Amino acid sequence: MGTGYVGLITALGLADIGHKVTAADISDEKIEKLNNGIPVIYEEGLEEMLQKHLYQTKNINFRLMTTEIVSEYDVIFICVGTPQAYDGSSNLRYLDDAAKMIGQGLDENKYTVIVNKSTVPPKTHLRVKRNILTQNPKASFDVVSNPEFLKEGTAIHDFMNPDRIVIGCNTSQSSQIMNDIYQPMVEQGFKLYETDIISAELIKYAANVFLSTKITFINELSHLCEVTGADIDLVAQGIGLDPRIGEKFLKAGPGYGGSCFPKDTQALSYFAKQQGVVTNLIDAVISVNSSHVLSLIPKTRDFFENNWQGKSAKKHIAVLGLSFKAGTDDIRDAVSLRIIPALLDEGFEITAYDPAAMENAKKVMENINFADSLQEAVDGKDGVLILTEWPEFSQINWEEVAKTLKHKVIVDLRNIVDRKKIKKLDFSYYSIGKSSIQSIEDRKENK
Ligand code: UGA
Repeated sequence: MGTGYVGLITALGLADIGHKVTAADISDEKIEKLNNGIPVIYEEGLEEMLQKHLYQTKNINFRLMTTEIVSEYDVIFICVGTPQAYDGSSNLRYLDDAAKMIGQGLDENKYTVIVNKSTVPPKTHLRVKRNILTQNPKASFDVVSNPEFLKEGTAIHDFMNPDRIVIGCNTSQSSQIMNDIYQPMVEQGFKLYETDIISAELIKYAANVFLSTKITFINELSHLCEVTGADIDLVAQGIGLDPRIGEKFLKAGPGYGGSCFPKDTQALSYFAKQQGVVTNLIDAVISVNSSHVLSLIPKTRDFFENNWQGKSAKKHIAVLGLSFKAGTDDIRDAVSLRIIPALLDEGFEITAYDPAAMENAKKVMENINFADSLQEAVDGKDGVLILTEWPEFSQINWEEVAKTLKHKVIVDLRNIVDRKKIKKLDFSYYSIGKSSIQSIEDRKENK
């Protein structure tokens, strides 16, 4: 149930390991597109995989979700969205609707496993169970938890090559069925880790909040690097070589964004408070991430303005990257949504370019220009601000770009530009957690 990121990738992944899968959604439009082999989300490799299982293996089909179809299936995965509510808690409205629909459709003479894959607070399986039973008191079913750890941009790879498959079951019957489902992956050597349901539910939140903590730690340290002259990327590598720390998720940047980390840190904090548990560390992560993004606004403004001193600039800059990270068209909670409006308030004019997120950005971003290409974005501008680490931005030929820019100033909030090359080309360059480079020309003028 649900053909968003988690639902669609799970359905295709299960089809890929040999199961017959129906992916159902309440949106007619999505179902029609998917049945015609057209992906409804942007994800590397998705179209090929979709068409393979629609037309070659025929392991997948797409249907409109109704109560009538529920009883046809042995196992139902709930993969609906659990967005953030106004108070930071997890909004379980869609999950409730899904559980009620399942309850209405279940055949009481047939045992069914209801798998919750949506990200939910611990103990939510009890709520799912309650919702089903209120509709169908005699229904024969178990609810299990099977959280998902895929990342946007590498979702198919992550599903097919999991670090671990987590399942939480309270009965041997449901556990056996879940083990059978993932048996083809276990045979390939992937680890299936089985716990009770509440622990499985908490593992999902704990993983996302821990990763958010790593990112936030390195971002906080980046400020110390800037004032001392240390280099945050070298520091991150230096600590990451210790296997107890690990090198992943220590890339300094403009703060975490996206549809998961901001929402899940808030939701875990909210849930813990409801349970009477104090979460000082998690609360600090949320607040440090937010203040880190805010601190980059005056830094960006000042770096541009200081490096334009003595040279007239119209404050018209190119912004490269709008999505919350590379490899996705998703702009939910992207830093671009916080930094761009603040720069507009400071009198900047902005022309933005993103290889994938333009359509989504155009729906919500006002008062900026959108360029059709990287070249068009930078042409004639007073500087460049990099917000997303798209590979095409790391490969920019700055010698060529230098010829078209009015002022050679770069603010790189993803640390993807080659500092040595930039220095030789006399750019003024700011990146996170490093000493900035002031161009030779500027240094002369400042004397
Ligand atoms: C995240 C988790 O990584 C997945 O394991 C999880 O399944 C998913 O949430 C989810 O709950 O559905 P995702 O939100 O797609 O995946 O993106 P990440 O790659 O984790 O990046 C999140 C944010 O952290 C981005 O803004 C990214 O730019 C930032 N980040 C990541 C850093 O700033 N530094 C890093 O080293 C890594």
